Amino acid sequence: MFYKQAKAFPDGFLWGASTSSYQVEGAWNADGKGPSVQDLHEPPAGITDFKVASDHYHHMEEDVELMAELGLKAYRFSVSWSRVIPDGAGKVNEAGLAFYGRLVDALVAHDIVPVATMFHFDLPLALHENGGWAERATIDAFERYARVLFERLGDRVKHWLTINEQNVMVIHPGAMNPGRVPDQPELYQQSHNMFVASAKATLLLHEMWPDAKIGPAPNITAIYPASCDPRDVIAADNWEAIRCWNYLDVACFGHYNPLAWAYMEEKGCAPRIEPGDMELLAKAKPDYLGCNYYATATVAAAKNDGHDRAPRAGDQQVMLGEEGVYRGAENSSLTKTEYGWIIDAVGLRTTLRRIAGRYGLPILITENGLGAKDVLEADGTVHDPYRIDYLRRHFEQAQLAITDGVDLIGYCPWSFMDLVSTHQGYGKRYGFVYIDRGEEELGSLARIPKDSFRWYKGVIRSNGAEM
Ligand code: BG6
Repeated sequence: MFYKQAKAFPDGFLWGASTSSYQVEGAWNADGKGPSVQDLHEPPAGITDFKVASDHYHHMEEDVELMAELGLKAYRFSVSWSRVIPDGAGKVNEAGLAFYGRLVDALVAHDIVPVATMFHFDLPLALHENGGWAERATIDAFERYARVLFERLGDRVKHWLTINEQNVMVIHPGAMNPGRVPDQPELYQQSHNMFVASAKATLLLHEMWPDAKIGPAPNITAIYPASCDPRDVIAADNWEAIRCWNYLDVACFGHYNPLAWAYMEEKGCAPRIEPGDMELLAKAKPDYLGCNYYATATVAAAKNDGHDRAPRAGDQQVMLGEEGVYRGAENSSLTKTEYGWIIDAVGLRTTLRRIAGRYGLPILITENGLGAKDVLEADGTVHDPYRIDYLRRHFEQAQLAITDGVDLIGYCPWSFMDLVSTHQGYGKRYGFVYIDRGEEELGSLARIPKDSFRWYKGVIRSNGAEM
């Protein structure tokens, strides 16, 4: 539908930016931090690990100054569980907690709304070694960790996100499970336990801080059928339910998506549900929904002939297919990034409309951005017109989604600064701020605003009127 004029971004719109702890902080064993599963990560040759990352832990004040210069209204970061509770369940590490206290204070002092993710792919290693999310003990540990965070930061942090991309941890589990990739029954059990843990944290926050908001942050994307062949349409519908809606249905409606449940039964991976779980899930209601959006996916009907699953270049955004469920397909209307991720700004509008239509809750875009091999020029500048173009197109579609009636409360591109990508190390950069380091040589770690930084500053200053 064409509109005579798109609606303006609402007053108070949270123009933000995102990061996650293990991808920016570095200081992997500083001041009492315990190891997380990410510290065991053994990258391929020539790709960095997460030990130093962007060294945000030692540059935090400088980084927040830059956020203020950019004019950010919100900053989405994640707390490293094992920095706060080194073994995940035992003694609190005061020095680690103090880091987040200082970060939150610095943000609040600059009128930047802190948006804290409680868990972003970095399970404390001690919990992992005891069975990780497959064990109910991890639910108890998460609830206790939540209590510590809410007690110590809850007076200043009013926006919480429970778990980042629970669906990606089930569908692309490699990066979160060093040494051994669990089978599907275990992954769906992990997922069920994460639902229960999130519900417990949600109820606890509402009890402790009734003025605060909390929600999940899954990776959601509209799934397109490869053609109008009704079998392709059903395949797209199935995969959207299994990959996306299941995660929001449990969080918002308190029950599993029926189609996703039928899939889990068929595959023999329906989780064990303990007495009381479903009552708890029904009681815990999120206040808003985070949405990480990078790309849509296009799928065709499965043939169930042993070839539905096909290796394709890429990672968590690339649909590999699943035997008897769907096949990955190409979309000739769309282009891809140099890392093989589809670029689909209109797909963001479609995705937001579908989420809003199903759940009727405010939405915060918690991630969206372009990974590229940015270059630091000899004169100290970084020109990233491709990122400006990518974000401009997505912002325009977000504005159209608002015009369509979506209650979009903010937009946090990935990422505030360059960081270590989940699969492609430091070469794949997303930030508004360039960090002077390579894969193996650390460089000066200087912070250098890119062209996109100056452009985004204008977008924020004009509340989206100037893009
Ligand atoms: C999301 C994750 O899946 O995508 C981030 O929440 C991640 O942690 C981002 O960095 C981009 O993916 P990648 O693989 O390019 O780092």
